Amino acid sequence: MDKLYTAETVGKWRKEKAESGKKTGFVPTMGALHEGHLSLIRKAKSENDFVICSVFVNPTQFNNPEDLEKYPRTIEEDILLLQSAGCDAVFIPSVTEVYPDYPDETSLVTVPLAPLNTVMEGAFRPGHFEGVVNVVYRFFDLIRPQKAYFGLKDFQQVAIIKHMVNYLELPVEIIACPTERELSGLAKSSRNQRLSDEQRVEATYLYKALQLGKKLSSDHLPDDVKEKMREYLDMTSIRTEYISIVHPENLSELHSEWVSGSICCIAAYCGDVRLIDNLQFIP
Ligand code: PAJ
Repeated sequence: MDKLYTAETVGKWRKEKAESGKKTGFVPTMGALHEGHLSLIRKAKSENDFVICSVFVNPTQFNNPEDLEKYPRTIEEDILLLQSAGCDAVFIPSVTEVYPDYPDETSLVTVPLAPLNTVMEGAFRPGHFEGVVNVVYRFFDLIRPQKAYFGLKDFQQVAIIKHMVNYLELPVEIIACPTERELSGLAKSSRNQRLSDEQRVEATYLYKALQLGKKLSSDHLPDDVKEKMREYLDMTSIRTEYISIVHPENLSELHSEWVSGSICCIAAYCGDVRLIDNLQFIP
């Protein structure tokens, strides 16, 4: 597996692959890799000639400095996992390779994101999606993949990246991949490493609440379902930040009617670890 550290080397790698006429699939990550990330690598491998993964803890998408500082960094293990998953190259840039003038000017592109960025994660993490859009745009520009792979675990992120690609008319296909879970139902996440054994059990109530909500959605309205899910989570030690049921494309909150593809998204704290999860309620 090629290890690339600079924008220049990744540019050379890209040109070489493009000249051979082969297709490249790209998987952006922030490292601390787990089965969720590896499922994206495997899917990309099955659909492209080459797969490149980026490992970069993007400072501009963290609205909370403590969260950025505590974000797990396990690059040696990440490299071994990527190798075993058949990844062809990993891009591990420094902050200044990605943002040459950091911390002065980190905005590389401006894409109007409203109303997609005013709800859920966007409402609770101001500036988060602007940071995501900028880093992904920078990587697309350097790597120019034919396809890029994102997990539905971050449902709102997928909606926003698809919007950016449409808005800027970028020549890349966005492939949305299903959420990998533990046997307990807990969605795999780099942040799970920070949960104690006890918290790991409590955290499973997130998915249980989603399953309960899905069941209730057959004979209750969205607002009613949210209320009952909140009551359920209030009986645990989990602190709910939001429970939203939204339209799958424009992410508008649903109150008294269901639409095809209605999806429920949750953010909650387990101790000081912030977790998110989601489940489609209506096919
Ligand atoms: P990160 O949280 O490392 O996630 C990288 C990719 O893995 C994302 O597309 C995410 O949705 C996907 N992923 C995470 N957990 C998953 C799971 N349990 N099942 C399936 N896919 C999962 O998302 C980011 O990084 C960053 O915002 C990034 C896009 C890299 C920009 O910095």
